[in-house]
Amino acid sequence: MDSNESNKDDLDQFDASVLGTKKYWDEFYDQEIDNYEDSKDPGEIWFGDMVESSVVKWMEKTFRERIEEPLIDIGCGNGHLLFELYESGFRNLIGTDYSECAINLAKKISVDQVSNPDDINFVASDVLDPACSDFLCSFLEKKQSPVFKESIKCHKYSFVLDKGTFDAISLKPKGEESLTNSSDLEERKKDIDYEARSKYAQTIHALLNSEKGVFVITSCNWTENELVDIFLPWFEKIGIIGHKTFTFGGVTGQVVSTVVFRPVNKC
Ligand SMILES: C[S@@+](CC[C@H](N)C(=O)[O-])C[C@H]1O[C@@H](n2cnc3c(N)ncnc32)[C@H](O)[C@@H]1O
Repeated sequence: MDSNESNKDDLDQFDASVLGTKKYWDEFYDQEIDNYEDSKDPGEIWFGDMVESSVVKWMEKTFRERIEEPLIDIGCGNGHLLFELYESGFRNLIGTDYSECAINLAKKISVDQVSNPDDINFVASDVLDPACSDFLCSFLEKKQSPVFKESIKCHKYSFVLDKGTFDAISLKPKGEESLTNSSDLEERKKDIDYEARSKYAQTIHALLNSEKGVFVITSCNWTENELVDIFLPWFEKIGIIGHKTFTFGGVTGQVVSTVVFRPVNKC
């Protein structure tokens, strides 16, 4: 039984949703490209400005000496988080998303916002594909400018960031390809693709430098403790990034959680 199976009852609180389907995201970003072309509005900042800014400020403060090490944003969408990291000095940035439309949007915004195009690269990939980590590590090797190549011996990432992507993957319906309309999803909403969660964790683990890699995940579906449980076999918690909390009925809860992990050496 894998670890996700054993925790399934605790972690079985969601229904499958369109937010867990590629069709939804392709249509969403297709529309966002039109919006960007009309108005130059880069679009949605998932979880808002304040959450994103806390993550960026924490990265800047904690890793000021490591801004040239490779960083990848998984499910980067319009790339907004990467553009903010770029503004604060990070220079070896890669964004990936399984939606080609998201990647096209991020590339368009990049042309308008980034003076040296080598500083941020965008590439399409599906984090649930078993070949994804090899693909993204060889992408890193090919893309490294000579200055980075000398300082980086292994072609693994020092930083993997996720804001909202694992949340979407947690809502992925089983057999997503066979869904033709929303009533299909309504009928199968209890049929979540639980395996997607462990596939995700395996890819993130394989992308990271085992010695000094850091995984920073921001979620609104999962609490800090739930994230620690989900990622336990692959990662151990080394910190959190605090966001605003709210109190209701005497209970204080965190709306959004950001947990910082380091990979555990499994093999
Ligand atoms: C909630 S949005 C967050 C977008 C972005 N991280 C942000 O903060 O604005 C989820 C993103 O995950 C991407 N995504 C979902 N499943 C994915 C997968 N299997 N591989 C890569 N990207 C995925 C979607 O296309 C979408 O861009």
